[in-house]
Amino acid sequence: MLRLLTLLFCVGLVVAGSVLWFTRAEPVAPERFTALSGDVVHGEQVFYAGGCASCHQAEGQTDDPTRLPGGQRFVTQFGTFVAPNISPDPIFGIGEWSLTDFASAVLNGTSPEGRHYFPAFPYTTYTRMTDQDVADLWAFMQTLPSADVESQPHDVGFPFNIRASLGPWKKLFLNTDWVQPATTPEAERGRYLVEALGHCSECHTPRNLLGGLQTANWMSGAPNPSGKGRIPGVTPAHLDWSPEDIAYYLETGFTPDFDSAGGEMANVIENMSKLPPEDRAAIAAYVKALN
Ligand code: HEC
Ligand code: HEC
Repeated sequence: MLRLLTLLFCVGLVVAGSVLWFTRAEPVAPERFTALSGDVVHGEQVFYAGGCASCHQAEGQTDDPTRLPGGQRFVTQFGTFVAPNISPDPIFGIGEWSLTDFASAVLNGTSPEGRHYFPAFPYTTYTRMTDQDVADLWAFMQTLPSADVESQPHDVGFPFNIRASLGPWKKLFLNTDWVQPATTPEAERGRYLVEALGHCSECHTPRNLLGGLQTANWMSGAPNPSGKGRIPGVTPAHLDWSPEDIAYYLETGFTPDFDSAGGEMANVIENMSKLPPEDRAAIAAYVKALN
């Protein structure tokens, strides 16, 4: 009996070890980025399209949106996550990082220490970014003001606080497949802005029990993770606005009935208003083509 138990225990260890090994946090291959040099001006567009400031600026921050000390709290069914300092401060921020460290974080959800990030950081979206956009974004972020504010710990209970458990989760939910088809250059641009940068679906798409996005119900509305109200669906079945209405809303925050956007969408509009009009039109075309 004891022998059998010992054997089972050993088999268990081997299985657990293999799972940990096969689902370990992978950095990107450094040679992918060595030849790339970043363009600061284009990086600023990527920064606003990606909405990084919405989460990484301080709670209630209304001045310079490019100050990124972190500290905002995000309540989810798995616990409360706190956005870290991603300013170029060498001690409290990410000033000492390389482009490869940054690309590994944004594309693979892998930290410089080789740990998994929680998907409260929407790398499940950013994983579809082009390498050039990552390099441009990194170049821009290095020009931002430093903030000497320490990042705060997350408040997440067992077992969700075990980062290794995110390995299998990523195998299920982290991939670079496009969700919607796109047949014209405008549709492709809109899809890129929504599915690789704007992370619209992270709010507008319902999640399954494991916290993965239900791609079959893409953008069809979801409970608000903070517990307050619902995030509206924006597919044509839920929203009958014209493409011009949607583009105007993304620019100004005004609905066709002259209500103004509230909640987290106000931050999204703050960012979208800084994009060129063609980009807002491309997003509107994507939203109209949803099914
Ligand atoms: C929805 C909120 C949200 C958005 C949007 C967001 N982040 Fe984050 N980010 C987080 C959270 C939460 C973490 C902490 C993850 C963890 O500790 O596992 C994080 C972590 C990071 C880290 C790791 C920092 C460290 O000290 O290890 C980097 C780098 C980062 N984000 C960059 C970005 C960039 C660049 C963008 C825009 C393209 C962005 N984030 C958009 C919430 C967000
Ligand atoms: C952080 C969460 C979040 C993200 C990211 C987000 N939205 Fe929203 N969105 C909301 C909320 C909340 C509302 C409801 C706003 C209100 O009540 O005024 C909303 C409203 C809307 C509406 C108006 C719908 C209506 O019926 O009034 C549209 C259109 C929309 N979002 C499109 C987008 C697009 C396109 C993106 C990506 C570029 C996006 N959203 C990203 C949370 C989000």
